[in-house]
Formats: sequence, structure tokens, C-alpha cells
Amino acid sequence: MKIYKAADYNEMSRKAANVIAAQVIMKPDCVLGLATGSTPIGTYEQLVEKNKAGELDFSEVKSVNLDEYKGLPRTNDQSYYYFMHEHLFDKVNIKPENTHLPDGTKEDSAKECAQYEEVIRSLGGVDLQLLGLGHNGHIGFNEPADAFDKETHCVDLQESTIEANKRFFASADDVPRQAYTMGIGTIMRAKKILVVVSGEDKADIVAKAFFGPVTPSVPASILQMHNDVTIVADAAALSKVP
Ligand code: F6R
Repeated sequence: MKIYKAADYNEMSRKAANVIAAQVIMKPDCVLGLATGSTPIGTYEQLVEKNKAGELDFSEVKSVNLDEYKGLPRTNDQSYYYFMHEHLFDKVNIKPENTHLPDGTKEDSAKECAQYEEVIRSLGGVDLQLLGLGHNGHIGFNEPADAFDKETHCVDLQESTIEANKRFFASADDVPRQAYTMGIGTIMRAKKILVVVSGEDKADIVAKAFFGPVTPSVPASILQMHNDVTIVADAAALSKVP
């Protein structure tokens, strides 16, 4: 596990974008696993800048996103589909047909999740998976549990996650209660993993997840078992690292 310390959010974003850019340069037709949330927004901004400057070509890149709310149409500005188009896909030369997210409008969870695993398999797996870190240690929407969920599945969101995400909705009542997410097994099959973390409010969970015991009660702790994980975090997020 490599940890890169950045002075602040901007530097974290620049360093993370450089890791992703290196992947795209080394393998122009790579499969990027992407995340939403507030942490990667600056990273996506940096990637857009590099693309605009002619330094980074997304024309052969394929992407699969980690997760999507169940029940939100793709036109809803809180859907992860909308987020990805707003922050990255519509601003770089990635081909829309090469971008993939679980379809939250599909009612049949088992079918949609199995199909999504098949999409990832048919692309040859994820070369580099970008992850944010939830306050309770969740990655994707894999919440603390008694066991690690392996494949893409439908989850009931925990109260703490609904609470954390309500800032994006008119009220907590509007936050969807379920989501489709890659499983821990899906995430762990990625060849490389890049975690971005920022802010003092993440300092406790960073210490627990990456320096504590590996346990499904802290889902991100499983990343300690992956052989190619890079964490790019700002000083505040690393302030409680032992
Ligand atoms: C997003 C995702 C989530 C977030 C996590 C951190 O696709 O899967 O696990 O990465 O909730 O969110 P932020 O970055 O908003 O703190």
C-alpha cells in the first residue's frame, strides 16, 4: 500500500489525476473504474484540464462506475449517471458508448447486477479503480456488515450514509433508500486501486481502515489485502495515521 501525502485538497486532486493520467498514457484503451461523491470532483477537473490541453486522450478509454442509486432516472441531477456526465464524460473525448454505470431504473435487482458484472467481465476487468472513502469505511455502497459482499448487488443504505448524502437532496426523505453497487469482490479484482481522501473528518476512518484490523465492519480495510493500492490523501485526512 503506497500512501502519497498532499498538502491540501488541490494537491490531492492533482496527484490523483496524475496517477489516472499515467494509467491512460500507459494503456490508452484501459478500463477505468470511477467513483462519484465530493472527493473526486477536483481529480475530474484536473483530468478535464489535461484533456483540454491535449495531454490526455480518452478516445479509447472505457469506464465502469462503482455504483448508482436505485430508482433515480438518469435525468435526475442526483443520479450518478448525471454526475459523471456533468463532471467528466461531457467534458472529455470519452465515447458515451464506452461509459458504463449500473442502471438504477432497472427494477429487477438480481438481473441488473448480474448484467453489470458481465459488462465488467466482457471489458476484461478494471485496470484502475478510483475510490472515495465513506465515514463509516464504506467503499462504493458496501456498508459495514458481518461479511464482505462479493459481487455487484443491491443494498439498503444505512442511516449514516443517507444522512451524509442528504446535502445533495432537498431533504433526507428524498435520498433513495437503495443502490446498486459493485461488491467487494468486484472492487478487489481491479488490477490497481487508487483511493482519494480529504479532510479532518476522514482522519479517524483512514487510521482504522488502513492501519486497523481487516474486518467487514470496516469494508475499506479489505484494501490492505490488495497488492496494488495507492492512497492519495491530504494532510488533514492523514493526521491520525499511527
Ligand atoms: C461514490 C461512492 C462512495 C463515496 C463515499 C465518499 O461513488 O461509491 O463510496 O466514495 O461515500 O464520498 P465523499 O467523497 O463525498 O466523501
